[in-house]
Amino acid sequence: MSKIKVKIFNDYKLMSKTVANEIIKRISKKPEISISLPTGSTPIETYKILVKESKKLKLSFSKVKFFQLDEYLGLSKENSMSYYYFLNYYLFKHLNFDEKNICVFNGLTRNLEVECLFYEEELKKTNGLDLILLGIGNNGHIAFNEPGTPIKAGTRVINLSLQTINANSRFFKNIHDVPKYALTMGIAEILEAKEIFLFANGENKAQAVSNALYGAVTKNLPASYLKNHPHVTFFLDKKAASYLN
Ligand code: GLP
Repeated sequence: MSKIKVKIFNDYKLMSKTVANEIIKRISKKPEISISLPTGSTPIETYKILVKESKKLKLSFSKVKFFQLDEYLGLSKENSMSYYYFLNYYLFKHLNFDEKNICVFNGLTRNLEVECLFYEEELKKTNGLDLILLGIGNNGHIAFNEPGTPIKAGTRVINLSLQTINANSRFFKNIHDVPKYALTMGIAEILEAKEIFLFANGENKAQAVSNALYGAVTKNLPASYLKNHPHVTFFLDKKAASYLN
């Protein structure tokens, strides 16, 4: 049986507020927390609330160690479609992170092996992140670990699935502009985190969420691997939870 805790909210705003407050609680308790936060449309409201509330509370991020979850290959930090750009736009530039505590991927790297090794080494120093917040792809991917990813997969380059390229094309002018490859934290590293949050809103996530919670643990649905972890909480709006019993 799954040990995953499930919290269901009436709407996206309430879900976002709760997730933001849970993050704030953990940073207040442990200012040197190591954390990884996602990109995408799901986190936008959470980050707005996180920034607003953190400023109100004068919460310092100067000791927070931040790890990027995933990044498109071939996009520079200045490219507005890159995940670094997103994180900077919604988080880094508003909060007093110390640049030396931010570990991000170089989407323009020419040496993929070195890039992944460097990231893994940095991650190892944390001895497992304190908290990872994940979104979920409508095909059940977490970070950019696409269906077919083995449980032991580490940081690596991934060939994006057609489904993900289609889903993410909404952010790009043209579907052909969506990168075909990405760098991602692996499942093994995600499962090493001490605590994991996953949040989802909207009916297009309902099937993946229900399969992750009720289905078998399978490489065909990477989010199902979260069932192997003892401290996972799903935060869902009513629509994303609409296929749950
Ligand atoms: C993207 C990212 C994930 C993200 C997911 C959901 O492809 N690689 O890290 O969690 O898909 O994105 P969204 O919140 O936009 O639905």
